[in-house]
Amino acid sequence: MSPRRKRPGLKTNRWPVIAWAVMVLALTTGSAVAAPAKNMNVFEPVSPPAYSINGLFILTLAICGGILLLVGGAMLWFSIRYRRRAGDTNDEPPQLYGSHRIEIAWTLGPLLIVFVLFLVVFRVVAGIQGKTPPKHGDPIYVTVIAHQWWWEFKYPKLGITTANELHVPVSPHGKKYPVFLRLESADVIHDFWVPRLSGKQDVVPGHPNHLWFAPEKAGTYYGQCAEFCGAQHANMSIRVVAQSKKNFDKWVADHQKPAAAPATLTGKAKVGYAQFVKNSCISCHEVNGATPALGGGPMKLYFGPDLTHLMTRKTIGSGMIANTPKNLAAWITNPQTIKPGCHMPDMNLSKKQVSDIVAYLETLK
Ligand code: CUA
Repeated sequence: MSPRRKRPGLKTNRWPVIAWAVMVLALTTGSAVAAPAKNMNVFEPVSPPAYSINGLFILTLAICGGILLLVGGAMLWFSIRYRRRAGDTNDEPPQLYGSHRIEIAWTLGPLLIVFVLFLVVFRVVAGIQGKTPPKHGDPIYVTVIAHQWWWEFKYPKLGITTANELHVPVSPHGKKYPVFLRLESADVIHDFWVPRLSGKQDVVPGHPNHLWFAPEKAGTYYGQCAEFCGAQHANMSIRVVAQSKKNFDKWVADHQKPAAAPATLTGKAKVGYAQFVKNSCISCHEVNGATPALGGGPMKLYFGPDLTHLMTRKTIGSGMIANTPKNLAAWITNPQTIKPGCHMPDMNLSKKQVSDIVAYLETLK
């Protein structure tokens, strides 16, 4: 080894390196702490499409990591091996002009890598976003309609409409009950994404897209609209409740029942129902069985969530707040204080009107 050459006036500054290290550490620990809390960790897949995406991610990471090691390692090796030493007289290294062999190698190598990545990505995407349901099992069909800013879920074969909380059966080994989604939008472009179950898929007006998943474990999986769609884009969350087939069948049977007939209501709920009908709540919301609440018209296009079984849902405002009588009252009093910009207006109702309407809503089980 040649003796180290002293360079006067050149001091090593360690601060940028320390700043980088602190930033990287903060980012990695921050995301590690934030991710699992909401059950949205892409690295914990529980459904076949999410497994393939995870596999694809690891493959891409391995290829890119290999390239990083190769290039970084070569850089490091050359800068140490061929560094300037004491006694070097020549200021310039020998100048070489082109080598066909090297040119061909560094053109074909990357081309091959890109080609392999293209093939595997294409295979995974085609397997997840196909226009027909997976060939195995007994598919559960769901039409997802994205709205500013909530999700409508319709089960066309089961005759159920609900919102924001999607119930599906658990699929043993991801085979038995694949959930096949048809994604539609009522307004702008949204994006349906439940990281532990499947990929991201754009929800485009006038162009239905498809996606499937099959959770292998029971649980509530969180998702989020993943395409900026306006003021309340961040408050457009999804909950997928995966339950045993038995519990799912029970949920289906309960949801196929209409709401309590208006004639059977008594007391505060009866008064609340009258307010509900009178104050144009029915122009946007459907209550199946409560006759005038069919605001969607012949097209059945609703501006607000179906309320037939509202009280079975855990949240309101598309996952913003817990579904409690107190929160319902606050929401009905003025939704704009909770979700500014949402399409439900302040109806200027009195305290009594609000509490009567809440009493009626509480009968929607
Ligand atoms: Cu819907 Cu972002």
